[in-house]
Amino acid sequence: MRVVAWMVAFVLLAVAPGPALAASYTSSAHGDSSYGVSRSSMSGYSTGNCAHCHEIHASVGGVTSTPYPYALFYSNYVSQTDMVCLQCHDNTTTVSSRAITNRSYSYRAGGWTGDTISSVKSSFDTSVQKSAHNLSDILSFIQTQSWGFNSSSTPCIACHNPHYAQGDPFNAPNSPKTSSTRGWLLTRPSKHGSTNPSDFLWGDESGEKMSDYVGSLTYQAPYRYGSTSTYEPDGSSSTTTNGSNLADMNTFCLDCHSSDMSSYGLNNTPIDWSTSGDKHGLAGADGGIDIKAPYSGSNYGAYVLACTDCHEPHGSPNIMLIRQEVNGDYLKDSSGNLVHITNYGSSTNVSNQLGYLCRRCHIDDADYYGNPSYQNRWEYVHHYAPDHPYTRRQCGACHYSWPINCTDCHYHGAVDPKGTGRKTF
Ligand code: HEC
Ligand code: HEC
Ligand code: HEC
Ligand code: HEC
Ligand code: HEC
Ligand code: HEC
Ligand code: HEC
Ligand code: HEC
Repeated sequence: MRVVAWMVAFVLLAVAPGPALAASYTSSAHGDSSYGVSRSSMSGYSTGNCAHCHEIHASVGGVTSTPYPYALFYSNYVSQTDMVCLQCHDNTTTVSSRAITNRSYSYRAGGWTGDTISSVKSSFDTSVQKSAHNLSDILSFIQTQSWGFNSSSTPCIACHNPHYAQGDPFNAPNSPKTSSTRGWLLTRPSKHGSTNPSDFLWGDESGEKMSDYVGSLTYQAPYRYGSTSTYEPDGSSSTTTNGSNLADMNTFCLDCHSSDMSSYGLNNTPIDWSTSGDKHGLAGADGGIDIKAPYSGSNYGAYVLACTDCHEPHGSPNIMLIRQEVNGDYLKDSSGNLVHITNYGSSTNVSNQLGYLCRRCHIDDADYYGNPSYQNRWEYVHHYAPDHPYTRRQCGACHYSWPINCTDCHYHGAVDPKGTGRKTF
């Protein structure tokens, strides 16, 4: 029975028709006949063969069937750093016959090749990272949706389909994305198991780009690391900065993040990116913005950001998956040293670390007054800008400390607690 089912599946998947350009196993990173899947223990099987993941040979050869679901060669989930996908995506040749190097989004899209994370395994490893998507929670979350996942699912397939995912770039361990080597590696979780070929990958077709998400509003691609003439995600020049070359990350992330995740310890969810939600989303800033290039102050109200402009998808050296490199530079202190956002403050441990993220796009006192020693100081925007929210009086009503914790007022869904009624995110 099992053997027959797998043989049929093999034929179906291998010959499944699709639109030109489109998703197919042979055009996927895993199915590539030169650089696709290959396990050293599987001599005799060509590179890219399904058997490098599914032990169909075991059943075909009459050996008792594999103990793992879907006849995979390894468990769907053991721990945050141990599951079938991470047998190969760990930058070693312990299992895979070729070390698979992978990079952060800050590296691939941001072009920040100074990032040292070199495998998917380390990107999720919370002994290396400050924060990471919790794969056990992802697994339990997708199982509670009616998207066709089950207890044998591996958490990575919440976001990637191993039969169609492409490299972006492919077989280029040490290169950022380039406009001539694009591929698409995401599948929307809510489209899991869909038999419609246009659902196999997300971002590869028109209607699935950031430019489609924003409609008549504006997506402005951030700068590439160290550049003011090339842009995310693929180093294109100023002729392509409207998100037409970026997968619609917002629709992708919001498949899950439109849910209340307080049961996973996230109290600022659901994330509301709609016209009645956050100003960084479809809702508009009001009264003016104090912003750096490539954004323009005169276009305030129209900008819509992508989740991945600020967040890593897997893990990061900062809390809350905040990227280390944002809009052309990494988060750093006034001496140029790397700064990590390790906490955003409490009543006993005040912190303005979050400001190192904001200042990648917004004007702080150093930028406004042209004085580097005012880096990450925020008096101008709160007290002097034309649309400043606060008059300087009764200092103690707000300044219980110098500085004040930014997250008293700035977080997803926030409205100013000091009564101006302004939305502050
Ligand atoms: C990189 C590893 C990998 C490779 C290579 C791979 N698969 Fe899979 N396959 C998986 C995983 C993981 C699942 C479980 C997916 C899930 O839970 O929905 C799966 C599920 C399946 C399923 C059952 C669920 C479904 O999607 O219908 C079939 C059938 C299947 N694979 C066939 C194939 C065939 C045929 C090939 C080669 C053409 C292949 N696979 C190559 C990892 C792989
Ligand atoms: C919450 C969704 C999500 C989950 C879960 C997830 N990924 Fe990803 N992954 C992404 C996104 C988003 C990207 C960046 C896509 C882009 O660059 O367009 C990415 C990128 C990648 C890349 C490319 C890295 C590079 O070198 O550029 C690989 C490989 C990958 N993921 C594998 C995995 C594996 C293996 C797992 C499970 C251990 C996993 N992912 C879990 C969303 C996810
Ligand atoms: C498959 C569902 C799913 C998708 C898709 C998804 N997430 Fe999540 N995300 C979760 C779950 C579940 C949690 C709660 C568990 C945890 O903290 O990892 C979470 C947590 C987070 C957190 C808090 C992390 C922390 O340290 O507590 C951030 C930030 C986040 N997601 C951002 C994103 C972004 C950005 C994307 C799109 C690139 C995305 N997520 C896509 C399910 C998802
Ligand atoms: C048998 C080894 C093996 C396993 C198991 C495996 N992969 Fe891969 N994966 C590869 C290879 C080889 C590539 C192509 C790498 C390259 O571009 O050099 C790849 C590429 C990818 C890519 C495209 C981005 C890139 O690195 O080019 C994604 C996404 C991905 N894998 C996700 C997964 C997920 C999710 C799973 C588990 C369901 C998985 N892989 C399991 C070997 C494996
Ligand atoms: C301008 C930068 C920025 C953008 C763009 C952004 N985020 Fe965030 N995100 C943050 C910051 C800062 C935090 C930490 C404060 C907080 O918890 O809200 C955060 C926290 C989160 C959390 C944890 C919320 C919690 O309950 O603590 C999730 C989930 C999340 N973001 C998802 C998303 C998604 C999904 C998108 C796109 C729709 C997105 N973010 C876009 C900066 C950003
Ligand atoms: C990647 C760039 C980027 C980052 C990082 C960023 N912002 Fe923004 N922010 C913008 C843009 C662009 C707008 C204008 C949105 C619009 O036009 O609707 C904006 C708007 C705002 C507004 C609305 C202002 C008004 O007048 O209505 C506030 C408040 C704000 N940001 C706070 C923050 C804080 C706090 C941080 C750090 C935690 C931050 N931003 C990080 C790009 C960014
Ligand atoms: C309604 C609230 C509020 C009142 C009242 C207020 N401030 Fe502020 N002030 C802020 C906020 C918010 C910031 C930005 C966060 C930060 O820098 O700590 C800020 C920033 C500053 C900064 C930069 C501080 C730093 O360490 O980076 C100075 C200086 C400052 N205010 C002076 C004053 C003085 C002096 C008064 C009283 C005459 C005053 N403020 C009254 C809210 C207030
Ligand atoms: C007491 C509440 C409060 C605190 C604390 C606070 N802010 Fe603000 N912040 C505001 C308000 C209100 C606005 C104005 C929003 C608007 O323009 O509608 C604002 C605006 C901003 C803006 C957007 C400026 C623009 O228009 O482009 C940034 C960036 C910012 N704050 C950063 C910070 C940072 C960094 C910290 C921590 C050091 C901080 N804030 C602390 C209330 C606060």
